[in-house]
Amino acid sequence: LTLPAAGDRGEPLEGLEQPAQSSQPEPRERQNLEPGSREPLAREAPADPVSPVQGGIFWSRALEQQVPPGFDSQQAASWLETARAARVASLERGGCGRSSNRLARLSDGSRACVRYGINPEQIQGEALSYRLAQLLGIQQRLPPMTLALVEARGRQWGQVRDELRGSHWAEGAVVSLTQWVDNLTDVVAPAPWRSEAGSGRRLQPLAAGELGGLTQSQLVELVQWTDLILFDYLTANFDRLVSNLFSLQWDPRVMHRATSNLHRAPNGGLVFIDNEAGLVHGYRLLSMWDKYNEPLLRSVCIFREATAQRVRDLHRLQNAASELLRLYRTHEPLSGRLGFLSEQQAQLLQGRIDFVHKHILHCKAMATSL
Ligand SMILES: Nc1ncnc2c1ncn2[C@@H]1O[C@H](COP(=O)(O)OP(=O)(O)O)[C@@H](O)[C@H]1O
Ligand SMILES: [Mg+2]
Repeated sequence: LTLPAAGDRGEPLEGLEQPAQSSQPEPRERQNLEPGSREPLAREAPADPVSPVQGGIFWSRALEQQVPPGFDSQQAASWLETARAARVASLERGGCGRSSNRLARLSDGSRACVRYGINPEQIQGEALSYRLAQLLGIQQRLPPMTLALVEARGRQWGQVRDELRGSHWAEGAVVSLTQWVDNLTDVVAPAPWRSEAGSGRRLQPLAAGELGGLTQSQLVELVQWTDLILFDYLTANFDRLVSNLFSLQWDPRVMHRATSNLHRAPNGGLVFIDNEAGLVHGYRLLSMWDKYNEPLLRSVCIFREATAQRVRDLHRLQNAASELLRLYRTHEPLSGRLGFLSEQQAQLLQGRIDFVHKHILHCKAMATSL
């Protein structure tokens, strides 16, 4: 992400702050969505089998079932275990982004992108964002990721000592290993967010009444985008859709180009990569980016019900940071090396959970009032 010089920033996103407006005609009966009661009660109007939205604000189960599977949690856990125990057989430049990253081949035959943080908060952000995705129940959209300690004489890195010397990575640094995914392709933001600078178009709210004419595959993609936007709001990750919105100032067609740090797997499912801007770096720069993060969140008024429930629980129990810490400590052996969120960052996370919860209630109220 390249930032413009001071004073270079215009206001291309005028109107973005419009509250999301829903014109959904008929909110569905909420009871149909409760676990264990999938079938409508006999007295209720029959559910429209083709409606992509249930309860006014939730993607239908039928639609969710069409979402291509992401990284299975058991397979991810087993790859992480293997990758931690494996030796790095080669380290190559290229294929994994910026010049400080490397493509590693591991002794078990798998490959991983290794990221070195110029600033430790980058690797911390990557690792904590991965665990927050787990807490939210959306981890299957992120490639499995673990931390590793760079020790040129250690068992893991001994075979690539020469390559390490050329990498300029500090001895003892903590790097991240992300499972390599073959044949990733680019993703352009879908229509609701494909505004053009100067076109006068606002960021269109995504609500149940706005879905007419969309194909099944467009809807399936939107299901994943709504999770992505919630995730990026919670982590304040500006290095994806937000950075594109920001670039509208000098690139009017930027929303028609590939979205940073987002790819499509061969099965069509979205893959959220490079989450290093989340939680730590993003929280440090909130004052700069929230004027983009917030309208983007408000542009979403349909949610995966499971994600909304996680947010509701984390709001009700006020335990987002402690749950995140629990997952981080349980699943990341090197968690102690990087430290956790500060008290202030933990409060910011909880505040953002509460904000998302309030937004979801607002969407529900809008949908019900129609
Ligand atoms: N796990 C991965 N599997 C396959 N390709 C990857 C993976 N991680 C990164 N890449 C490739 O490297 C590019 C840059 O990755 P990214 O992690 O965003 O690095 P940077 O630090 O340069 O932003 C991606 O667009 C993708 O092509
Ligand atoms: Mg990147």
